[in-house]
Amino acid sequence: MMMRAVVGLWVLSAVICVGRGHHHLGHDDDKTVQDTVADGSANSVSLVNEANQEFSFRLYRQLAAHADSQGKNIFFSPASVSTALAALSVGAQGETHRQLFSGLAFNSSLLTQTDVDQAFQRFLQRANNTSQEDASEGTAVFVDNGFKPKPEFLQTLKQSYFTDGFSVDFSQATESADTINKYVEEKTNGKIDQLLESLDPNTVMCLISYIYYKGKWATQFDPKLTKQDDFNVDENTKVSVDMMNLEDRLHTYHDRELNTMVLQLPFNSSYSMLLMLPDVMATLENAISPNHVTKWLKAMTRPRRHEVYIPKFSIKTSYKLNDVLSEMGMTDMFGGRANLRGISEEQGLAVSKVVHKATLDVDETGAEAAASTAILIGRTSDLPGDVLKFNRPFMVIITERNTEKILFLGKIINPTI
Ligand SMILES: *[C@@H]1O[C@H](CO)[C@@H](O)[C@H](O)[C@H]1NC(C)=O
Ligand SMILES: *[C@@H]1O[C@H](CO)[C@@H](O)[C@H](O)[C@H]1NC(C)=O
Ligand SMILES: *[C@@H]1O[C@H](CO)[C@@H](O)[C@H](O)[C@H]1NC(C)=O
Ligand SMILES: *[C@@H]1O[C@H](CO)[C@@H](O)[C@H](O)[C@H]1NC(C)=O
Repeated sequence: MMMRAVVGLWVLSAVICVGRGHHHLGHDDDKTVQDTVADGSANSVSLVNEANQEFSFRLYRQLAAHADSQGKNIFFSPASVSTALAALSVGAQGETHRQLFSGLAFNSSLLTQTDVDQAFQRFLQRANNTSQEDASEGTAVFVDNGFKPKPEFLQTLKQSYFTDGFSVDFSQATESADTINKYVEEKTNGKIDQLLESLDPNTVMCLISYIYYKGKWATQFDPKLTKQDDFNVDENTKVSVDMMNLEDRLHTYHDRELNTMVLQLPFNSSYSMLLMLPDVMATLENAISPNHVTKWLKAMTRPRRHEVYIPKFSIKTSYKLNDVLSEMGMTDMFGGRANLRGISEEQGLAVSKVVHKATLDVDETGAEAAASTAILIGRTSDLPGDVLKFNRPFMVIITERNTEKILFLGKIINPTI
């Protein structure tokens, strides 16, 4: 497939591989989740949405704190990770299931697995149902031809997570990795082309989620105004970037509590990018929560004239999430205590690896120009605009404004790496 030289393009994919562990189960917990059909389904959809937002920032903080992340950009899709883990939880039982639920911030006294499945069904339908055809999300499962998952498990994945199912021969490690990588590459328009570098021959099943988004800025940057400029990675390090420039009436908010300037750059749709420029990154990183995002989006009702500078950049990230998820309490799924008996009664099934890759490309033509004439009678519009220059580390969120679903979340500390 053609690699399109597109701009304003966000992509991501997550994968969970379940392998045959060599350990026997040290923990036999046969309690199954009591699934009741939800009556207040609208309510549980919003509970799951809130939980997903909470999970986004928990995962961000865990990633940011990791030694491997020091001096690196962070960029990932919370939506993709939570979709993959929620689909896995369909097949988890006992303590493994409890850990997944609590790790994903689902309150088990308010939500059943069925509520969660129905909520994801809604989210996935909605994600594909936008007016723009350049947003898509989905899941897939690749099953070894010698392994038979329970039909109920596959049925729930198909019905609620719209999972594409494939049979592969995991003893052919290279070929099966290729098959999976090709699928993901196609679903992400070529942006994620090597999700899996290698496959353990013990693999019996691979669960995939992907998300792809491409948006045009509601107001375009003029490429003629893009100039080489310094980006201050830290006090002692400067790198040269292509700095884009835009002067317009824009939605901004100064969060005094976090000493952070927030800029909302809308796409020509219900999606927006939020860019957060803090005085001190740690203050923002340690405190940022779903409530902040809600507050910012609410407060930014009246646009004001601003001149903004944003680097043009293209980044790729790659994560193995085993440690991070374990640190978030989701430990049992990785070891001998794993209870995945919703997938199969076979002994010794466990998660071997959770990997995540993401890419982010930002440039001027991420927006398309539109024109309109209005005669405004007012006092403010001719004052010189405030300058807002993203020339030092900042954070980004890509969100849908109505649901505040967090598609992508990250920190750009050096746009040139
Ligand atoms: C879960 O919901 C119950 C009932 O509203 C509440 O009492 C409890 O504190 C919640 N648990 C968590 C971890 O939020
Ligand atoms: C969403 O779109 C993708 C790509 O076109 C497709 O593969 C997937 O099945 C769709 N999912 C739903 C829930 O419609
Ligand atoms: C999908 O879009 C159609 C037409 O715009 C709308 O009627 C339907 O309710 C939408 N479905 C979801 C799940 O958002
Ligand atoms: C922006 O969205 C509107 C409504 O969906 C559409 O008619 C218009 O063509 C879009 N403009 C651009 C520049 O994509």
